[in-house]
Amino acid sequence: MKIVVTGSIAYDYIMSFPGRFTDSFVDGQMHNVSLSFLVDSLNRQRGGTAPNIAYTMALLGGRPTIMATAGQDFGEYRAWLEEQGVDTSAIVDIEDDFCASFFVNTDQEQNQIASFYTGAMAHAGKLTFAKHAADADLVIISPNAPDAMQKYAEECRQSGIPFIYDPSQQAARFSGEELRQGLEGCAMLTVNEYEYTLIQEKTRLSEAEIMERIGALLVTKAEDGAWLVVDGQEYHIPPAPPQQVADPTGAGDAFRGGLMRGMQLGLPWEVAGRMGALAATYVLEQLGTQKHHYTPADFVARYRKYFDDEGALDALLT
Ligand SMILES: Nc1ncnc2c1ncn2[C@@H]1O[C@H](COP(=O)(O)OP(=O)(O)OP(=O)(O)O)[C@@H](O)[C@H]1O
Ligand SMILES: [Mg+2]
Repeated sequence: MKIVVTGSIAYDYIMSFPGRFTDSFVDGQMHNVSLSFLVDSLNRQRGGTAPNIAYTMALLGGRPTIMATAGQDFGEYRAWLEEQGVDTSAIVDIEDDFCASFFVNTDQEQNQIASFYTGAMAHAGKLTFAKHAADADLVIISPNAPDAMQKYAEECRQSGIPFIYDPSQQAARFSGEELRQGLEGCAMLTVNEYEYTLIQEKTRLSEAEIMERIGALLVTKAEDGAWLVVDGQEYHIPPAPPQQVADPTGAGDAFRGGLMRGMQLGLPWEVAGRMGALAATYVLEQLGTQKHHYTPADFVARYRKYFDDEGALDALLT
């Protein structure tokens, strides 16, 4: 079963300022801002929704294909993804631009000043499954350039490729009409609780009306676990207890990766859902979205500490 993961490819540049931003704001001069903060740490981390999801699938022994656009600074990131077992052959380099980049500076009071540069991601809408990732059995459409997300969903509908529609953080930016179009006919809609409410408000569709338009629904609820509905059957997925929560960013992406790996192996929904929950927990425990590591055997052993898979996860060990 060939799984194609679409979404952003980005670097996160994380800075910390050893002071307070507000000390530099001058009353009466807010129309004339020219500020420079001397930061004492800079960290560049690999990120983007597509590699975040694909990395989890690769840790679990899968070989997902990423279809996305990346910039001239992508070389070492590509090599690293290949080493982890991700197929990068459908990642197209945009020569004269950089990868999408998120720059965030945090001061000692946890105030943040951030900028997001779209870069190469802005070209994602030029890619098609027909040309770049043929024979997909399942696609996930994760946060990316908004026009690309809508085009990918439309191509999947036209070509009959089952797709998971994952608007996540882009749900805030899409109009009700765009969200209605995007989710129409998807195999699964994946959102967190907040985004699920937002989608209902924006589309003015009730839960029942949404269900009529989609094959399945995943709503993640942070420390309350997740709610999965497939073919009218409901599954309440408990969270996997984290040892510590270092950084919640990327938990949602890892959940999707774990769930899809379970789907790829044809595992029961309870098990695939719990794989998502445990994959998310590993991300919570580290700073950064791809800083964690485990073998399939580590994963299965930890899973069996919390949950009973009735032997289903032996599929991961062969
Ligand atoms: N504090 C927590 N304890 C245990 N599990 C958690 C916790 N927070 C998140 N999770 C796990 O991660 C999954 C996804 O979390 P959440 O619903 O917060 O996603 P999200 O808001 O999309 O996150 P993000 O977009 O930052 O990755 C949850 O379903 C749960 O399994
Ligand atoms: Mg999310």
